[in-house]
Amino acid sequence: MLETLIPNSRQTPNLPLAELYHRVERHVPEIEWPVLAADIAAILKLKREKNAVVLAHNYQTPDIFHTVADIVGDSLALAREAARTDADVIVLAGVHFMAETAKLLNPEKTVLIPDMKAGCSLAESITAADVRLLRASHPGVPVVTYVNTSAAVKAESDVCCTSGNAKKIVEALGTPEVIMIPDEYLARNTAAQTRVKIIAWKGHCEVHERFSAEDVRELRAGHPGVVVLAHPECPPEVVAACDFTGSTAAMADYVGQKRPARVVLLTECSMSDNVALQYPDLDFVRPCNLCPHMKRITLGNIRQALENMTHEVTVPAEIAAPARRAVERMLELG
Ligand code: 13P
Ligand code: SF4
Repeated sequence: MLETLIPNSRQTPNLPLAELYHRVERHVPEIEWPVLAADIAAILKLKREKNAVVLAHNYQTPDIFHTVADIVGDSLALAREAARTDADVIVLAGVHFMAETAKLLNPEKTVLIPDMKAGCSLAESITAADVRLLRASHPGVPVVTYVNTSAAVKAESDVCCTSGNAKKIVEALGTPEVIMIPDEYLARNTAAQTRVKIIAWKGHCEVHERFSAEDVRELRAGHPGVVVLAHPECPPEVVAACDFTGSTAAMADYVGQKRPARVVLLTECSMSDNVALQYPDLDFVRPCNLCPHMKRITLGNIRQALENMTHEVTVPAEIAAPARRAVERMLELG
């Protein structure tokens, strides 16, 4: 096993590789570690040389999340941290819309995504032309846009939101009605918590739309006492049947604070893997769905991204200015 002392920046300062292995040993078999350790050592060195940070979403695999990431979190936290960083280079270990958001907030920095094909079914579900048509059919109604969209769609919007602040943003606008795009279920789940009327779009997350209320009933029958947490991209009947709903960060906080003896997270698989490594005493029940887009990011392509400075994410100036306003307004309001 490699024992070299590798100075990592920020969140994982000066940890020897053996210490990093300790963080993931319940997930990564010892026989696989030398291969991963070679990439990890290279990434940590490249980050120092290039003054780069790795921002990793909660759905990244534990080998990325617990070893090379400087900042981890939900979409809101990654946007906030992207706005704050003093690094020259941001590697976004997540999907394309997250990298675009980081670029909007850091126009002068280099933002890299290790795989350009890391997309999102929600971002694919709506275009800028769709938003213009929606506005035309609901004159004067503000458009609240989930961050899981392209910069071009954000540019047509009044304000962005995430799963962590949707209700707050919808209510902060002070209007009786809003258009909320593109996630139908996030819109309906938010509508259930507010008096503001919400006009929704028909987009769905391909990971969360697959959970059903029947799944929740079966989980409760098969795992007595299990506490069921669900992401608000799940259908409303799943949210109604679960014990807590929140963004990926809110779910992780819930587990950390309440320490349920047995828990299931109805969301992407790596989320449970990452949280379970932090709380070995808790029993995590594991039905979960993989996000094929998040899974495109690997230690290998993070290393290549830093070695070759690829793939750079850019946003045309005429889209970037209005899209940035919508993201910044979200950060100001919630
Ligand atoms: P959050 O991490 O913001 O809850 O979003 C989940 C998600 O699906 C991001 O793609
Ligand atoms: Fe998009 Fe769903 Fe994957 Fe998140 S989990 S990136 S919302 S497809």
